[in-house]
Amino acid sequence: MINKIKDLLQEVENMKAANAEEIEALRIKYLSKKGEISLLMNDFRNVAADQKREVGKFLNELKETTQNKINELKERFENVQTVDDDIDLTRTAYPIELGTRHPLSIVKKEICDIFGRLGFSIAEGPEIEDDWHVFSSLNFAEDHPARDMQDTFFIQHNPDVLLRTHTSSVQTRVMEKQEPPIRIICPGRVYRNEAISYRAHCFFHQVEALYVDKDVSFADLKQALLFFAKEMFSPDTKIRLRPSYFPFTEPSAEMDISCNICGGKGCPFCKGTGWVEILGCGMVDPNVLENCGIDSKVYSGYALGMGIERITNLKYQVKDLRMFSENDVRFLREFESAN
Ligand code: DAH
Repeated sequence: MINKIKDLLQEVENMKAANAEEIEALRIKYLSKKGEISLLMNDFRNVAADQKREVGKFLNELKETTQNKINELKERFENVQTVDDDIDLTRTAYPIELGTRHPLSIVKKEICDIFGRLGFSIAEGPEIEDDWHVFSSLNFAEDHPARDMQDTFFIQHNPDVLLRTHTSSVQTRVMEKQEPPIRIICPGRVYRNEAISYRAHCFFHQVEALYVDKDVSFADLKQALLFFAKEMFSPDTKIRLRPSYFPFTEPSAEMDISCNICGGKGCPFCKGTGWVEILGCGMVDPNVLENCGIDSKVYSGYALGMGIERITNLKYQVKDLRMFSENDVRFLREFESAN
């Protein structure tokens, strides 16, 4: 019997298990009522009296070792489950949701694509600008109200370091460096010191277009505007130009399109007029060309500028401008199909 116990002791010490079921199977094999150890316990009755002491000692040792070993396996198995090498705790949690492009990015791209088809290429400029590029070069008089502190964010009380209030500054940047022909489209963010509400924000986005070459005429501008309006909204969109004033264009105009919501019949969106204003434009003032080192007797040009929020609003009827910068995914997801 002692030999049998020693064999079992050996066996128990080498016991291995891969999961909870295997551990339970081992427990049943050795420790249950009909298990190996219980059977030996039953046989203990038949052991000769003078050997009982020694056999009893081995038997107790076997029982205790088996119990400890099974506990040890259980513990190890539980630990293995919590510190599994295969689990990557740095991985993104499921489900991984794909983002969507921001509505302003979608519309910006569309505007740039349309002008791209007319041969315009993209130009960019800095958001932190100086007075020359934002105002002086563009023919703003010294006392023009747009220079006023109420509109412009100045940086560190320095009147010559400011956040650009329009993307027209990129016109100057390009004309200073590049000889005509120039045909550029400049998308970007602009800043104005306005109280934030559903219809105004202290930052918004514009796209500027500039074409300078020999013999550029107002008819060229009108043709480009009509093409843009039809491509952006619908083929039956009509345009109308109203005389206006900008320091950097002469003559200047504002362009309306037939209201794309009521089709020109008149609705609350177009305040019953059938028309909505979408951009400013004009022939580049000769002073601006000269300020940038371009001979205004040889060259002429047209320019136009529009707000991306305004165009997006017209296309998608976003009623509150603040939605564009709140990053509410429910709002952004509404543009999934336009992506
Ligand atoms: N810069 C003008 C603004 O911010 C928009 C604009 C009007 C741009 C007429 C132009 C233009 O290029 O010709 O309101």
